[in-house]
Amino acid sequence: SVELNAALLPLDWLLGTWESDEPGEGCFPTIKPFRYTETLNFSHVGQPVINFMFNAFHAETKKPLHRECGFIRMQPGTNRVAFIIAQNSGLVEIEEGELTAQQLNLQSQSLARTSFAREPHVQQISRVFQLRPDGRLEQTVSMATDNQTLMQHLHITYRRSS
Ligand code: HEM
Repeated sequence: SVELNAALLPLDWLLGTWESDEPGEGCFPTIKPFRYTETLNFSHVGQPVINFMFNAFHAETKKPLHRECGFIRMQPGTNRVAFIIAQNSGLVEIEEGELTAQQLNLQSQSLARTSFAREPHVQQISRVFQLRPDGRLEQTVSMATDNQTLMQHLHITYRRSS
């Protein structure tokens, strides 16, 4: 296997596959609370780029739901991280933020969507990834839409599966 590009060493703790250990919790003022499972995969091919895929499923029916994929880059010599993301809902986004220890705090810098994307449209996204002392990974996602200010949509923890 190819060696991790030195530019990404600060993010080596993300690499591999992660499975939700217990169902994640979804909420938003305008929807019914829900539970979901999710698999994350972070890989690389030696470039200064991490490739990722996030696949979420309905907790009970196991039906595929939300999916995201993209790339992660770091600004050389800084702790600045960028996620370049495509979502199956027709949304694309750039998120940027800071890496501090094993926590990533990201804010959407730009959002775009298909002309026929469902409403309400997302206007802002913020998310936190944190590697906890117990070795679990935690993700929290908040969003603002046409109708709602920034509020939590997702919270989930994962266990490393490979
Ligand atoms: C609803 C965005 C991730 C499951 C929604 C809504 C938006 C949205 C805008 C509609 C809210 C409203 O009607 O006011 C996003 C964004 C995500 C994301 C931007 C990622 C950054 C996920 C994930 C799941 C999920 C990972 C896991 C299964 C749902 C469900 C609903 C919903 C079940 C309610 C039913 C529906 O409208 O389809 N999401 N979502 N979302 N989301 Fe997400």
